[in-house]
Amino acid sequence: MPDALLAIRGLSVHFKTNGGVGRAVDTVDLCIAPGETLGLVGESGCGKTVTAMAVMGLVPSPPGRVTGEAIRFNGLNLLDADSETRRRIRGRDMGMIFQEPMTALNPVLTIGRQVAEPLMVHLGLSRGDALAKAARWLDRVRIPSAKRRLAAYPHELSGGMRQRVMIAMAMICRPRLLIADEPTTALDVTTQRQILALMASLKAELNTAMLMITHDLGVVAQTAGEMAVMYAGRIVESADVASLFATPLHTYTKGLLQSMPRLGMHQERLHEIPGTVPATTESIEGCAFAGRCSSAMDRCRHAAPGLERVRPGHKVRCWQYAR
Ligand SMILES: Nc1ncnc2c1ncn2[C@@H]1O[C@H](COP(=O)(O)OP(=O)(O)OP(=O)(O)O)[C@@H](O)[C@H]1O
Ligand SMILES: [Mg+2]
Repeated sequence: MPDALLAIRGLSVHFKTNGGVGRAVDTVDLCIAPGETLGLVGESGCGKTVTAMAVMGLVPSPPGRVTGEAIRFNGLNLLDADSETRRRIRGRDMGMIFQEPMTALNPVLTIGRQVAEPLMVHLGLSRGDALAKAARWLDRVRIPSAKRRLAAYPHELSGGMRQRVMIAMAMICRPRLLIADEPTTALDVTTQRQILALMASLKAELNTAMLMITHDLGVVAQTAGEMAVMYAGRIVESADVASLFATPLHTYTKGLLQSMPRLGMHQERLHEIPGTVPATTESIEGCAFAGRCSSAMDRCRHAAPGLERVRPGHKVRCWQYAR
């Protein structure tokens, strides 16, 4: 896709561990057009965060090793970029929001200083100008008495407020891409809804593209246009959100959809996908999902299927659909 803002080609991330080499991310391709949102979903440990870390250039090395053809962002292959270029892009052209703002915020620095910092570092604003702009942004992310909050420390704010601060920090330099890794998972349902609405309105205003990482399909349905399902380090299905919800093809995607709580549905009727994700260090001969798949055939245990296009815009990694 030549007009993509972010195009990931053949990305792999391996970790050296005591138990051998862990393939956390395995030849992943992903694409996000300017202003669009891609939802990346999958169970715990399937490689979502590591994918995001690779895009941001934050995979610890060692033990991690990032390889691939390209992480093309805004025309530049980040895999070839030096660390200075990557640092410049991070926080300016690419913003990030994580699940637990307390780990991303510095507990000993005031909110004002932290929200103002990207403006001083990346855009060269003076301290005074940066603080004034930080106050306007706190107001913009609907933090009450924003000016006064500049002097507050992270622990003085609620979880929802801290996440608003993170959003302000991530968006203040008007990045072209926002990477949100489980941004609402730690929040109660009402706060979650407010944070998603805030992100949606800022995103629309600034035309920011977004990589929305979540294990919550409800969040994807609300925010994303396209989605990719990840399993054991690989993309197993991708399509636009409407098609994927209406006609999921991979047994894993079907399972995820069935395990999604619906209004009026009793909790005990929630379907759970049997079994667990294989360890990243396990060497798998066939399809990584075969051991948990209700439709597995003999072939699935011996040969790994490729990610094939089944119809325009819809790809699946499953022998059932291979031609
Ligand atoms: N620094 C590291 N060293 C070794 N293994 C790692 C390291 N970081 C991540 N991994 C492994 O990579 C795999 C993918 O982890 P990742 O954090 O990307 O999962 P995830 O999909 O984000 O899960 P969750 O939904 O729980 O956040 C896991 O098996 C994890 O143990
Ligand atoms: Mg994660």
